[in-house]
Amino acid sequence: MYKKDIVKAIVNEKFNNKIEKATAFAPANIALCKYWGKRDSELNLPYSSSISISLANKGVTTSIQILKSANQDQIILNKQPVSSDTSFAKRVTEFLNLVRPPDTHFLLDTSANIPIAAGVASSASGFAALAKALNTLFDWQLEERQLSIMARLGSGSACRSLWDGFVEWHAGYDPSGMDSFAELYPEQWQELRVGLLILSNQEKKISSRNAMQQTVTTSTFYTSWLAKADQDLTKIKEAIKRRDFPSFGAAVESNALAMHGIMQTAWPPIFYSLPETVDAFRKIWDLREKGRNIFFTQDAGPNLKLLFLNEDVPYIQQIFPNIEILDPFVK
Ligand code: PMV
Repeated sequence: MYKKDIVKAIVNEKFNNKIEKATAFAPANIALCKYWGKRDSELNLPYSSSISISLANKGVTTSIQILKSANQDQIILNKQPVSSDTSFAKRVTEFLNLVRPPDTHFLLDTSANIPIAAGVASSASGFAALAKALNTLFDWQLEERQLSIMARLGSGSACRSLWDGFVEWHAGYDPSGMDSFAELYPEQWQELRVGLLILSNQEKKISSRNAMQQTVTTSTFYTSWLAKADQDLTKIKEAIKRRDFPSFGAAVESNALAMHGIMQTAWPPIFYSLPETVDAFRKIWDLREKGRNIFFTQDAGPNLKLLFLNEDVPYIQQIFPNIEILDPFVK
């Protein structure tokens, strides 16, 4: 099954373009129980379900409009034109091709209000904002579930960037992926805080797409990861419900370490951590030994996201002076 068939089934070739321009915002999201590995890499279908926390007003705003007499798309990122031969422009154009009416080109203007180096700004919130903007531009009137599937076709984790707060992505079983979508996990945890700890601005050497594939195809422990992800998802959801921060933090951190552990069992091995990352692990483990409830999670890069409660904000600021602290449930 191809992406084009899915888009056809969802939007039913409806291109009702009455408005000039549509703009949408989507928050960045951080996985608490990670998605690592696709059972279908064309449709971005995961092997396991995942849960994330959105970062409220931190994310991507995208405007899309139809260009009258142009022969190619124009893409602007953070106010700078992006050349069509960059991997960013190629990914965006490939997505736009799925919904492009004949002889149509777009002007896409996108900006992120979160540091790209944090590894949380780019693809997830970007494709979610784009799917939302296209929904308005073409008046598709998609339901949330369909919109989530559309965003997933751009980037897997984008399907979780359509809501604030906790969001669960159901892996699904169907080869069409029509049952692989995200939805709100309707719990509000007002005291929860996320700290972005930027340890390096270095570009990642291997994309999450390639790293996942390498892990699935070469790691003999991949099925152990799936069993653990399944257990962690339940633990994390239950801990959220009980507002049990120590259990929540332990399950989140252990899940991230297991994902990175499984990558090290791939061949060639994948290792996103830098010495600074490992130093930060030790610092956090030391703080925990001293009785502080501080945990971390790590995605496909060397930077960390710290999880703690509001009461520890002054302490965290003192220990990590450069940290950016976000309140996921701020109105
Ligand atoms: O959707 P992608 O290709 O950006 O992959 C996301 C991978 C992780 O951030 C490491 C995990 C996740 O569930 O977001």
